Amino acid sequence: MIRMTLDEIAAVTGGRLVNADPAATVTGPVEYDSRALLPGGLFVAFAGEKVDGHDYAATAVEAGAAAVLGSRDTGQPGIVVAEPLEALAKLAHVAVGRLPELTVVGLTGSSGKTTTKDYIGQLLARLGPTVAPAGSLNNELGFPYTVLKATTGTRFLVLEMGARGIGHIAHLTGIAAPRIGVVLNIGAAHIGEFGSVEGTARAKGELVESLPAEGLAVLNADDPLVAAMASRTQARVVRVGESAQAGVRATDVTLDERGRAAYTLVTPAGSAPVRLAVTGRHQVGNTLAAAAVALEAGMPVADVAAALGEVGIVSSRRMDVFDRPDGVTVIDDSYNANPSSTAAALRALAALGEGRRTIAVLGYMAELGEYETSGHQDVGRLAAELGVDRLVAVAQAAPVLDGAASIPEWKGEPIAAADQAAAIAAVTGDLRPGDVVLVKGSRYRTWEVADALRADAAAEEVSP
Ligand SMILES: Nc1ncnc2c1ncn2[C@@H]1O[C@H](COP(=O)(O)OP(=O)(O)OP(=O)(O)O)[C@@H](O)[C@H]1O
Ligand SMILES: [Mg+2]
Repeated sequence: MIRMTLDEIAAVTGGRLVNADPAATVTGPVEYDSRALLPGGLFVAFAGEKVDGHDYAATAVEAGAAAVLGSRDTGQPGIVVAEPLEALAKLAHVAVGRLPELTVVGLTGSSGKTTTKDYIGQLLARLGPTVAPAGSLNNELGFPYTVLKATTGTRFLVLEMGARGIGHIAHLTGIAAPRIGVVLNIGAAHIGEFGSVEGTARAKGELVESLPAEGLAVLNADDPLVAAMASRTQARVVRVGESAQAGVRATDVTLDERGRAAYTLVTPAGSAPVRLAVTGRHQVGNTLAAAAVALEAGMPVADVAAALGEVGIVSSRRMDVFDRPDGVTVIDDSYNANPSSTAAALRALAALGEGRRTIAVLGYMAELGEYETSGHQDVGRLAAELGVDRLVAVAQAAPVLDGAASIPEWKGEPIAAADQAAAIAAVTGDLRPGDVVLVKGSRYRTWEVADALRADAAAEEVSP
């Protein structure tokens, strides 16, 4: 965070200073996990259901926190506010307002926000100090937390923006207004909360509505609901995609045996060949969006293309492809799942699995609401159409198998695994060299399957 006195922080947040010297200064980052605190930082205490951050106030101050921002007096130097989350938002708003040289980039979409945020971060870091922390810090807590990571030397701030309803993105842009806004795609993610893809588009489009006239909207030309957002912004628009209307375009897309795309990056400033190191055809769109941002920031086309060839996966469990010593390749894409990202992952499995046996372990996709059954069936159908050899549906993901069964030509093996242990057994039971295994599902429990495949690999590595 920029340097601020406790007095200033109290004024900005409407808080009350307690046990503190008003002139004492916060010189370090803002943290809500006392273990992450650095000397001079500000500790924000939240009274959560399970853990009360205020109980860690003393630990935080011992670790060097200059003060504690919380909803009650902890006996430590601090600022007491009615609502720490609101205080964090106000603080972030004022702090970013004091960095006029900073370029703020915001991005949203149904799938690929974290992935693309990481790519944008890796590109912009070549131009100057960039804040784009790993992970999915896209909500009313993570967003202001990320904003507060920017400091006097920061040139670019890249912000992931999530929405579970109308007004959520507008709330975030009210905290820090991006000058460059990227909308990746509108799919069925969190559709249970929105009711329809149109509802999702309304909510995500709040990002481009907030952009200033001198700003830039980067819109996916290949996604009609995103392309239509051009009419909702006063900013300049750059369309990215494979369609002819895209100003920043990929042509001649090919995939290699590892499912990595190569393409020609075509821009108004010239063209250059790109060869990606990350897996999945969907990375074409993600990297085009990143390219548009880097071009806007002043990077020459040839440099953008070269840099795209070096971007990697920063946040874990997203298209993490690894080879085990036994010759099995694993795609750990288990961070989260919705029908669009599962489709992308299945296509990556098919690309990587050319001439090899393919196994897909699909866990439950959360937050689909009334589309829950059909969403699972759809991905099962696609898995069958792509010719997946063994399809393991875990627990509530069972409708995946109904979808697969509806493709009469499918000759693969369906397995209904009652739980994660059964799924692990179904996969590890007879793995053969050359197999490719995709692990995909919504979070925690699916991770167990991916971790079992990692642990097996590690065990092989140490055995004589
Ligand atoms: N353009 C894309 N289209 C479809 N799937 C994608 C795309 N980009 C990434 N994915 C996949 O979507 C999943 C989630 O990726 P990521 O975490 O980057 O998305 P996110 O939008 O940040 O998700 P969340 O809403 O959980 O924050 C991963 O499995 C990833 O491989
Ligand atoms: Mg994310």
